[in-house]
Amino acid sequence: MSTTQNCALVVGVTGMAGLSIAQALRNPTAQGGPWLIYGAARRPKPTWFPSSAVDHYITFDAVNFDDTYTTLSPLSSQITHVFWAAIYVGQTEEDNIKINSIMLSNVLKVLTAHTRPIKLRHITLQTGTSQYIGPIHFTSPSDAAQHEPPFHEDMGRLPYPNFYHVLEDVVKSYGSDLTYSIHRPSIIISALTRSVYNFLLTLAVYAEICKYQNAPFKYPGNRYTWEHFCDMSDARVLGEQHVWGATNEKAKNEVFNCTNGDVFSWKKMRGFLCEEFGVEFVPLDEGGGLFDLVEEMKDKENVWDRIVEEKGLVKLKMEEITCFAAVQTVLRFNFQLVSSMNKSKEFGFLGYVDSFKSVRFWIGKLRDMKIIL
Ligand SMILES: NC(=O)c1ccc[n+]([C@@H]2O[C@H](COP(=O)([O-])OP(=O)(O)OC[C@H]3O[C@@H](n4cnc5c(N)ncnc54)[C@H](OP(=O)(O)O)[C@@H]3O)[C@@H](O)[C@H]2O)c1
Repeated sequence: MSTTQNCALVVGVTGMAGLSIAQALRNPTAQGGPWLIYGAARRPKPTWFPSSAVDHYITFDAVNFDDTYTTLSPLSSQITHVFWAAIYVGQTEEDNIKINSIMLSNVLKVLTAHTRPIKLRHITLQTGTSQYIGPIHFTSPSDAAQHEPPFHEDMGRLPYPNFYHVLEDVVKSYGSDLTYSIHRPSIIISALTRSVYNFLLTLAVYAEICKYQNAPFKYPGNRYTWEHFCDMSDARVLGEQHVWGATNEKAKNEVFNCTNGDVFSWKKMRGFLCEEFGVEFVPLDEGGGLFDLVEEMKDKENVWDRIVEEKGLVKLKMEEITCFAAVQTVLRFNFQLVSSMNKSKEFGFLGYVDSFKSVRFWIGKLRDMKIIL
């Protein structure tokens, strides 16, 4: 490695954003490249992980300072950029605040402890649009929306505990020693299996079960989301925005939303998903109250196991690859989950994708990976 080469540490490289960040850095035309890329996660490499995405796959538990220190201190004289795409999800937001801030602080402490001047120059911090809507997982969705959509980056912090606030404070605490960019995606769409929140795979697993059991593919959301607009973030656009944020002077110490740049109604998206998955479209039926997908899936683990066995899919437990409760919560919002991309465009990031084409692309990937049929 030359002394001037940029060196990235992508923390959370097996996750939604992490893998796409590594792939965006690996792109031969990536700004700041060619990059030396360290991709880090807690667990060993999953079988589907494309080894070419990183130069070195490393593992450490960021919650554990000694482990973080042992693994990262030998790299502190090389790493110029950290891409933060890790997440811990606990039982309460207080847990999330404590553990996520320990993880980030441990990594930054180790990377800034030894070298003077500090080799590390920039951190891209991934958070999300729940910055604008409060603690969706811990209160009822009906009282969650506080800012009026479309969400703008300059909307102030809501008066709820939120681990995103603390992560922002950690990066800002480095003052002029370190620049940062903060990236706020909506629902992230990608194809992988190690994520806490994987919206597309959750819907895909539900569709496979419906097909297998000849059951209708029902909508677990409400009329509001069926009829109103929502947005998404293709992981490829997000990966590109991180790299842009890390390498553009104008983006330094700024916050950017990151969505595909278009909107859709769930009615339209459901119709599209039905065609893609090969299941029958069932109109929204509120006759007997909202359809409870979480309840419906409670006893389906063995059905999924049978599908995996009979169809020769990659052996993964339904519980580890789905997030039915989170999907249901989002589909029952009574506000439009829509963020403005104006600031991002004004600052020069022009990445976008058609959300329908994006969903088709990632469903194709899930099939290629033999995760779904
Ligand atoms: N998923 C979405 O739809 C979505 C939407 C908006 C915003 N966000 C936000 O985006 C950020 C990243 O989430 P994500 O969904 O991209 O993550 P993710 O797909 O769940 O992946 C998390 C990554 O972090 C790693 N990790 C977790 N704990 C670790 C530890 N102790 N030490 C080292 N690595 C660890 C995981 O590796 P192991 O599996 O090996 O632990 C994995 O690579 C979060 O702030 C999240 O709130 C996500």
